[in-house]
Amino acid sequence: MATRLCSCTLPLLLLLLALKQSPLHASDTLTTNQQLSGNQKLISQDGSFALGFFQPAGSNGKWYIGIWYNKIPEQTSVWAANRETNDRNFVVLVNHSKSPIRSTNIKNNTAVSSTVAVLLNNGNLLVRHESNTSAVLWQSFDDITDTWLPGNKLSHNKKTGIVKRMTSWKDRGDPTPGMFSIGLDPKGSTQYVLLWNSSVVYWASGNWTGNSFIGVPELSPTNSYPNSGYTFQFVDNDEETYFTYTVKSDVQIFTRAIIDVSGLFQAFVWMEAAQAWVTFFTQPKAKCSVYGMCGESSMCSENAASSCSCLKGFTENNPNNWILNDNTAGCRRNVPLKCVNNSTVTKQDRFYLINNVKLPDSADIVNAANIHDCELICLSNCSCTAYSHNGTCLVWHDHLMNLQDSAGGSSDRIFIRLDASEIPNSGTKKWWIMCIIIGGFIILSLGITIVYFLYKRSRICSINQGDGPLISFKYSDLQFLTRNFSERLGAGSFGTVFKGVLPDTTTVAVKKLEGFRQGEKQFRAEVSTIGNIQHMNLIRLLGFCSEGAKRLLVYEYMPNGSLDKHLFDSGSVTLSWKIKHQISVGIAKGLAYLHEECRDCIIHCDIKPQNILLDASFIPKVADFGLAKLLGRDFSRVLTSMRGTIGYLAPEWISGEAITTKADVFSYGMMLFEIISGRRNLEHRETSMETFFPMLVARKLLEGEVPGLLVEGLINGADERELERACKVACWCVQGNESSRPTMGEIVKILEGVIDVDMPPVPRYLEVLAEGSENVKFFSYEATK
Ligand SMILES: *[C@@H]1O[C@H](CO)[C@@H](O)[C@H](O)[C@H]1NC(C)=O
Ligand SMILES: *[C@@H]1O[C@H](CO)[C@@H](O)[C@H](O)[C@H]1NC(C)=O
Ligand SMILES: *[C@@H]1O[C@H](CO)[C@@H](O)[C@H](O)[C@H]1NC(C)=O
Ligand SMILES: *[C@@H]1O[C@H](CO)[C@@H](O)[C@H](O)[C@H]1NC(C)=O
Ligand SMILES: *[C@@H]1O[C@H](CO)[C@@H](O)[C@H](O)[C@H]1NC(C)=O
Ligand SMILES: *[C@@H]1O[C@H](CO)[C@@H](O)[C@H](O)[C@H]1NC(C)=O
Ligand SMILES: *[C@@H]1O[C@H](CO)[C@@H](O)[C@H](O)[C@H]1NC(C)=O
Ligand SMILES: *[C@@H]1O[C@H](CO)[C@@H](O)[C@H](O)[C@H]1NC(C)=O
Ligand SMILES: *[C@@H]1O[C@H](CO)[C@@H](O)[C@H](O)[C@H]1NC(C)=O
Repeated sequence: MATRLCSCTLPLLLLLLALKQSPLHASDTLTTNQQLSGNQKLISQDGSFALGFFQPAGSNGKWYIGIWYNKIPEQTSVWAANRETNDRNFVVLVNHSKSPIRSTNIKNNTAVSSTVAVLLNNGNLLVRHESNTSAVLWQSFDDITDTWLPGNKLSHNKKTGIVKRMTSWKDRGDPTPGMFSIGLDPKGSTQYVLLWNSSVVYWASGNWTGNSFIGVPELSPTNSYPNSGYTFQFVDNDEETYFTYTVKSDVQIFTRAIIDVSGLFQAFVWMEAAQAWVTFFTQPKAKCSVYGMCGESSMCSENAASSCSCLKGFTENNPNNWILNDNTAGCRRNVPLKCVNNSTVTKQDRFYLINNVKLPDSADIVNAANIHDCELICLSNCSCTAYSHNGTCLVWHDHLMNLQDSAGGSSDRIFIRLDASEIPNSGTKKWWIMCIIIGGFIILSLGITIVYFLYKRSRICSINQGDGPLISFKYSDLQFLTRNFSERLGAGSFGTVFKGVLPDTTTVAVKKLEGFRQGEKQFRAEVSTIGNIQHMNLIRLLGFCSEGAKRLLVYEYMPNGSLDKHLFDSGSVTLSWKIKHQISVGIAKGLAYLHEECRDCIIHCDIKPQNILLDASFIPKVADFGLAKLLGRDFSRVLTSMRGTIGYLAPEWISGEAITTKADVFSYGMMLFEIISGRRNLEHRETSMETFFPMLVARKLLEGEVPGLLVEGLINGADERELERACKVACWCVQGNESSRPTMGEIVKILEGVIDVDMPPVPRYLEVLAEGSENVKFFSYEATK
């Protein structure tokens, strides 16, 4: 590590003055002419912050000088020098009149005697006089990047007119200033505004009322989380206006506000128990109102799992950033426009209609008698990319920005210009082409009708070769089989499930997927992967339907419904220990198969009793696997917006770290506690901490008295050794540290008594949950919003 660092970094220079040259110890102070190089760093006195060279993930090997949290394992930078130039020399130069300037080129030995640089406990780097601490020449707080730390002021200097503004990084690996910024309104009001390209205001906080900002009542001293920890101050005098917040000295928390690469202004607090940054404030609330969040030629969707999607005929400009939820690069055409201005030519560009949208920004209004004229006007100008007509003709030139789907409450129609090849069956149709098409259609319909009747008669499922063993249903088939979706079985995380009966009288469960924006081809590919997975403890996918925007999955039907009903419903008969054990082992086997034996490892991501189905003999079948992949990268957002799932989420979900199979292990552990106790884990936290079952078990185990649980009547007729093993496994599964958790394969063996397991430590993460501390209350509030 050290050698790699040295080979590609240059010294950090501060004030080129000819004075002492002493070796550098781990210290918070750099004196004149001292150098930092390689992995040397300055560390603030209390150890909170470090200054040195860092390499943001995805920076393509570039190193930056910056400040980061020294005590937090997840690399979190709060300041970067030379963002624009990525110069590895950092020079603070002070001119004669003591007005500091920052430069990378000027090597001017202008002498200011005895100057030092000090990294303070609040993350501020000061350049000041060696003996006079109040003679500050320069500070990093004045050179704010994308992070607003407690104690820093986001100000507007009324004398100079200078607004101190935070600017987002260009992308997650590049600190170069991006498109989004936040600062006080340059027009002089007392509100903060979020700006795109330094000019377009896309959010404003509202003026300061004396207690809070009009548009952000939650950010007030009395209403904030954790309400005792912060102090707020808004100052508006003749010289300057600023807002600042501080963390009270007795509260040991790290908190920061950032302007994210996707244009959101967010505040985080570090949750020690979860080892993760948790968001407690985000603006704007409606993501699609961030100007240009989805970039050009894409559609923003407030409710869908992934907010941005390219329009038909367009592809992501930067797929790598797209995966990291940074869509600002937008989309580009697959096929350039021909732009032939001659309506008799068949190669002329065509238009693709999108209904129910909120129209893009900056349209030009033109005079057109009707919609046809409007189209011709657009066609006649090569830079015209779209039009819309509802009485007035609107046309767009070059860039289409901020197009939003109907969730925005708007019902306009827009016609997007595409090359003719992007729209099948377009072009001027000659009569014989029409004849062939119509003739073909009639023959095809006849064929389909015959096949359909044969299929109904023979009661053999038609098999679509391209999709493996899966049946590709038509939507109308499913409408018919489910009697127009009349019998609802339940509502899952991804959509509603209906009961249906196939022509061969097999009962099936038909799931209508919601919030889907995946292309047909990708959907088929994923579905076919899921269809190939067959295991006794995994629910079988029998078929699917993908028609237009409709996506449905057809599963085998489980007469005993889902596990949660049997565990928690007061009306149902309590499951015997034997059945519970069978269920626990079965689920573990199913998951072990998904994790270890499938061709591509599949992480379920949403293990909970609702997703475990029971067949007639109470053999468990894991449902909904593979959907995480179907939904793609934004799965975590879907998850955390779901009420009730929070109790099963592993801490790494909140931190945004890479999710491994161990996240499933955590959820499995939480569920195992519920299977054992027959009660919900989280319910009990609210009534009494003492009965938070997972903690009770952990403590009892350590006291060596699992049989004690039996006396309390929690579990009837349990095999004591099986029970103890199950309790131990559950405790191991919910360890905060992924590597402490066993694999699913190991769990199967432990539960079956094939291998032994040590006494688990009390899970730290659960301890926090059990205490019902401020953190956790807040944490579950955020997650259920
Ligand atoms: C030095 O400071 C003065 C006063 O602030 C300023 O006008 C001048 O531009 C500075 N010199 C340089 C080289 O920046
Ligand atoms: C360095 O400082 C001197 C004054 O001390 C000034 O005359 C000269 O222009 C400066 N050099 C540069 C490169 O700014
Ligand atoms: C320390 O610096 C401040 C600000 O430059 C100045 O007002 C003060 O007089 C200095 N004190 C001493 C003892 O030099
Ligand atoms: C905010 O304050 C400014 C003056 O400071 C005023 O012009 C403006 O109307 C105020 N805005 C609102 C929404 O009250
Ligand atoms: C941002 O603004 C600048 C100047 O106002 C302009 O030249 C530039 O084209 C704008 N960038 C975009 C992407 O619109
Ligand atoms: C349009 O194209 C056709 C065939 O290519 C040609 O005969 C006609 O003159 C063109 N019309 C114009 C206005 O260019
Ligand atoms: C396209 O053709 C129409 C009429 O045929 C004409 O009025 C218009 O100027 C032409 N536009 C271009 C860009 O050639
Ligand atoms: C096309 O539209 C743009 C923007 O309105 C305009 O500047 C340009 O002159 C137009 N071109 C033609 C050929 O009409
Ligand atoms: C057409 O759209 C404009 C802008 O969205 C709207 O103000 C107007 O009411 C619409 N007209 C009709 C007839 O719907």
